[in-house]
Amino acid sequence: MNPILKIKDLNVSYGSIHAIKGISFSVMQGEIVSLIGANGAGKTTTLKAISGLLPFKGLIELEGRNLSGTKPHQIVQMGLSQAPEGRGIFAPLTVKENLEMGAYHRSDGKIGDDMEYCLKLFPRLKERLKQVAGTLSGGEQQMVAIARSLMARPRLLMLDEPSLGLAPQIVSQIFSIIKRINSEDGVTLLLVEQNARMALKIAHRAYVIETGQIKLEGKGVDLLDNDSVRAAYLGG
Ligand SMILES: Nc1ncnc2c1ncn2[C@@H]1O[C@H](COP(=O)(O)OP(=O)(O)OP(=O)(O)O)[C@@H](O)[C@H]1O
Ligand SMILES: [Mg+2]
Repeated sequence: MNPILKIKDLNVSYGSIHAIKGISFSVMQGEIVSLIGANGAGKTTTLKAISGLLPFKGLIELEGRNLSGTKPHQIVQMGLSQAPEGRGIFAPLTVKENLEMGAYHRSDGKIGDDMEYCLKLFPRLKERLKQVAGTLSGGEQQMVAIARSLMARPRLLMLDEPSLGLAPQIVSQIFSIIKRINSEDGVTLLLVEQNARMALKIAHRAYVIETGQIKLEGKGVDLLDNDSVRAAYLGG
């Protein structure tokens, strides 16, 4: 199997701050891969570089194509979509308009079908299609962010902290939807999380990132059992 995403010796700096120090990893077709790490480890920076939002050194390949110099909207058209940290929805727009924005670059006739599919995944949003997104609860806004990124029909979906700030019950709902998107619809997922337990449970494979470097990698279930992962990320 070929990797859908291949990262080799990635380096990202903010001025004099060297945030990502030569990381390499890959995501295979059909996988859920989690990237876990503490605050400031470099998770968001990694996703932003992949999405074309930050300059980088090293190699980023999407389905064999080098992304160096590719613009963010072109990367979306190539099949990669990201739900950003902090939700990043369009607050003054309605739920329906937010979802339509996710499909802005598409000219195929399947947008209506995908809207229906998203509303089946998130029935809560169906009741709130006309509500202004900024007035939704945190969990509902997160649902909008995920649904909006699905409206781009990605082959690879990147989620930055989908569980951030949500109550445990909503967190399990979101994770079970993520699992369905992968197993029923074949979307490959790269998931960034501080909720290491959930992220490792759901992942086929995972990488642990510390101060801009990958410290450990393995199957999600194996890392859940790893002593140093338990001590650092799972509360012993
Ligand atoms: N715009 C910026 N300018 C300068 N430094 C930045 C900028 N954005 C991030 N950094 C620094 O880069 C490092 C990695 O940050 P990043 O946001 O990638 O971490 P993270 O793993 O996503 O953390 P969190 O879990 O808190 O979201 C941090 O030290 C951060 O302070
Ligand atoms: Mg982050």
